[in-house]
Amino acid sequence: MNIPYKILGNGSYLPELTVDNEMYAQIIDTSDEWITTRTGISRRHLCDGETTSEMAVKAGAKALEDAGVLPENIDIIIVTTLTPDYTTPNTACIVQADLKAVNAFCFDLNAACTGFIQAFDVAMHYLNATEPVTVLIVSAESLSKIADFTDRRTCVLFGDGAGAVVVSNREANGADIAPARVYSSFFGADGTGGGYMTGKAFEVAVHPFSDSDQSARADRFGHETGIYLSMKGPEVYKFATTAMPSAVEKVLERAKINLTDIDYVVPHQANDRILQAAAKRLGLDPEKMLSNIAETGNTSSASVPICLDQYVRSGLIQRGQTLILTGFGGGLTYGACACIF
Ligand code: UT7
Repeated sequence: MNIPYKILGNGSYLPELTVDNEMYAQIIDTSDEWITTRTGISRRHLCDGETTSEMAVKAGAKALEDAGVLPENIDIIIVTTLTPDYTTPNTACIVQADLKAVNAFCFDLNAACTGFIQAFDVAMHYLNATEPVTVLIVSAESLSKIADFTDRRTCVLFGDGAGAVVVSNREANGADIAPARVYSSFFGADGTGGGYMTGKAFEVAVHPFSDSDQSARADRFGHETGIYLSMKGPEVYKFATTAMPSAVEKVLERAKINLTDIDYVVPHQANDRILQAAAKRLGLDPEKMLSNIAETGNTSSASVPICLDQYVRSGLIQRGQTLILTGFGGGLTYGACACIF
């Protein structure tokens, strides 16, 4: 697509409470050695009384400040999360109220760990317009509220946090932007793999007019852990190591660019071994596959914008560079966007 767009600003927020691997070894049968060698995670930040929307507001405010955009100049707020505080109002409306982004319309999007990438692409479709449009995308997750802290296979993996970007088809001062050299996207899903990663929202309704026996009803996915996340790790691992590189190849092809044109890939942070395997499969210099999982764990949809923000603020990612943002996860969902930072 030939879209005039610019990532005007970025921000992120991580809760203050840091939990290292040794702290998990004190409550479940695990070790720092297992977690580090199998995942690359050393520590993660967990909410301590904070909510998803509070983190979203903090990350969103930082992105607005970085962009130099006033809240009232935001036209659309998209929040991605699989851990909202409420079913209604949606998290985006809470962010709108707290940031006083009075002119924005708001919606939430849930594509699990692929959420940010999908929201980014949705925003691009809005930017492909003649009128000025500015979108705030915030991805925020408090996975600690759906992590089963007695299940060593899952709880050690997850962290909490939020990341945000402001994208627009105008400069912050309203000046025109020329269509960027590069933008392409590719998304896929495989609903037959839905059972590989599940977390239940609600039980089947038992209301005063219902006389069906719900105790006899089998869960579609065999999900038995209530609201807590359940994951078939090795199956998701296999999916991720093929789906993610294939999405990257598709966006390169669609953008008519080569791997050598890419400065960095900013991937969903699920496991360092997945990132290394994907880099190898692609023939990508592993240094270009950015990782911050050691310090954050897996923050689902928030992981890409948090990683982006940290590497921009460290000075590694710079204006004008060509990036691939890519994600994969529950659904199953996966995808990538090639863009200019
Ligand atoms: O973000 C959404 C997408 N999610 C992902 O992409 C996650 C993809 N999957 C993975 O990253 C990996 O499959 C995991 C990190 C989840 C698991 O690593 P693995 O190398 O695939 O381990 P495994 O599940 O095959 O388990 C191997 C062994 C098992 O013990 P036995 O049955 O061989 O005795 C597990 O019980 O490791 C055991 N194990 C643990 N041991 C110590 C599993 N979790 C732990 C743990 N500490 N925390």
